[in-house]
Amino acid sequence: MRIAMIGGGYVGLVSGACFAEFGNEVAVVESDPAKLAMLRGGGIPIYEPGLPELVADNARAGRLTFGNDIESAVRGAEAVFIAVGTPTRRGDGHADLTYVFAAVEQVARVLAAPTVVVTKSTVPVGTGRKIAEILCEVRPDLTIDVASNPEFLREGSAIADFMRPDRVVIGTESERARETLRALYRPLYLIEAPILFTGLETAELIKYAANSFLAMKVTFINEMADLCERAGADVHDVARGIGLDGRIGRKFLHAGPGFGGSCFPKDTLAMVRIAQDHGAPTRLVETVVAVNDARKASMAARIVAAAGGSVRGKTIAVLGLTFKPETDDMRDAPSIPIVGRLIEDGAHIRAFDPAGMDQARPLLPPGVQFCNGALEAAEGADLLVIITEWNEFRAIAPDKLGAVMKGRLIVDLRNLYDPMLMRAAGFTYASIGRP
Ligand code: UGA
Repeated sequence: MRIAMIGGGYVGLVSGACFAEFGNEVAVVESDPAKLAMLRGGGIPIYEPGLPELVADNARAGRLTFGNDIESAVRGAEAVFIAVGTPTRRGDGHADLTYVFAAVEQVARVLAAPTVVVTKSTVPVGTGRKIAEILCEVRPDLTIDVASNPEFLREGSAIADFMRPDRVVIGTESERARETLRALYRPLYLIEAPILFTGLETAELIKYAANSFLAMKVTFINEMADLCERAGADVHDVARGIGLDGRIGRKFLHAGPGFGGSCFPKDTLAMVRIAQDHGAPTRLVETVVAVNDARKASMAARIVAAAGGSVRGKTIAVLGLTFKPETDDMRDAPSIPIVGRLIEDGAHIRAFDPAGMDQARPLLPPGVQFCNGALEAAEGADLLVIITEWNEFRAIAPDKLGAVMKGRLIVDLRNLYDPMLMRAAGFTYASIGRP
C-alpha cells in the first residue's frame, strides 16, 4: 500500500518507518528544511533506540522517502496520515490545531483521487469532524474519508510499542476507511493485537483518557510516596502490594519527581479544557495537573532540606536531565525547575546526561557545568542528585562515587539504589517514599 505521512517529527517518523517495515511505500513530508536535509542525508533528528537502523533499512529498500512536496507524496496514496505537532496553545491550555488544519487543507487541495485522511496527532474530541468539514469545503468534488488513529508510543520504546501494541484504535464512520486501515495493520493480526474500531469522537477521547489515566496513576503513587515518608512505610512495597491486584496493575506505579515529557503535561491540560468546554469537568484530572506541577516545583526544596537547609556555595552533581531515560527529550523535564532553583539558591551544578546534553544546554540557566560522565560530574561534589533513571547510573558502585565526591550525601529522586547498601557504604541517602 502507498501512504503519505505529513510530519516527520517523533510520531510521523516512527510510524512512517514502522509502516514501511510492514512492506508499505511511505512518503514522509517534512517542512522544516534543516530536519529534511538531515533525514535525506541519513540522519535522525531525534534520539530513539532502533530508529536509525529501521529508517536506514527502509530508505535503502526504497520503501521510505522524505520530501517537502505534499502533492507528490499524496499522489496514489490510499491513506494520508496527519502527524504534525499539537502544542499547548499559549495562554489557555488548549491543544493548538493550527498545524493540523493547515496540513489538512494543503492535502485536500492537491488530492487527485479519493483517499482516507487519518489523524495520528493527538487532537481534541471533535477535531475529526472539523477535518471532515474542511475536506468537504475544499474538495466538494472528491470523497475523502476521515479516521482517527491515535498513537500510544512511549519515547524510548516507540518501535516495540508500534510493532507489538496492546491495542490499535481506529475511529471512523466510513467502511472504506475501516478496510484501508484494517489492511494497513494486517501484519499485527498475526500477533493477535486487538484492533478496536470505534466512532471518531471515541477514538479521539481514548487517547486523552489513556494518557490522563496513566498520569493519574503516577500522581497517585507520588502522593502515596509522600505519605509513606511520613508514616514510615515503603512505597515500593505499597506499589507492589496494590499492583499485584490485576484490577490495578503494576505498571506506572514508580514514584518520582513528577511526570514530564511532551505528552502527559500537554494532554492532561488539554483534557481538562476539553472536559470544561463540554460542560463535564474532570476534577480528578484537574487535580492531577495541579498536584504534579506542585510536585515538580517542590523537588528542589527537598534537595535543599536534605542538604541541611542551604545549598549556597555547595557543589551539586546532577545525574540525568531528560524527562525519562532512553530519550534526549527535555520537554517539561523535572530537571529544569530543579536545576533552576538550585542555581538561584547559590549552588554550583555539575551535570551529566547520557543523551540529553545538547537539548538541555539552552534550557538550563548559564553557569551549569556540563560533564562527560557520571563520575566526572561527581568529582568534588558535596552532594549528588539523581533526576533521571538511566540504566548506566544504576551500575555505579558506591565506592567509586565515594572516591571522587567530597561530601557523602545522595538525593535519589528515582530510587535507583538500595538504601541499606548506600548507608553501609557511608552515604546519607535520601530517596522517595522509603524509610
Ligand atoms: C506517554 C504514554 O505512555 C504513551 O502511551 C503515549 O503514546 C505518549 O505519552 C504520547 O502521548 O505520545 P511518554 O511521554 O513517552 O509516553 O513517556 P512515559 O513513559 O509515559 O512517561 C511519562 C512521564 O511519567 C515521565 O516523566 C516518567 O518519568 C513518568 N513516570 C512514568 C513516572 O514517574 N512513574 C512511572 O511509573 C511511569
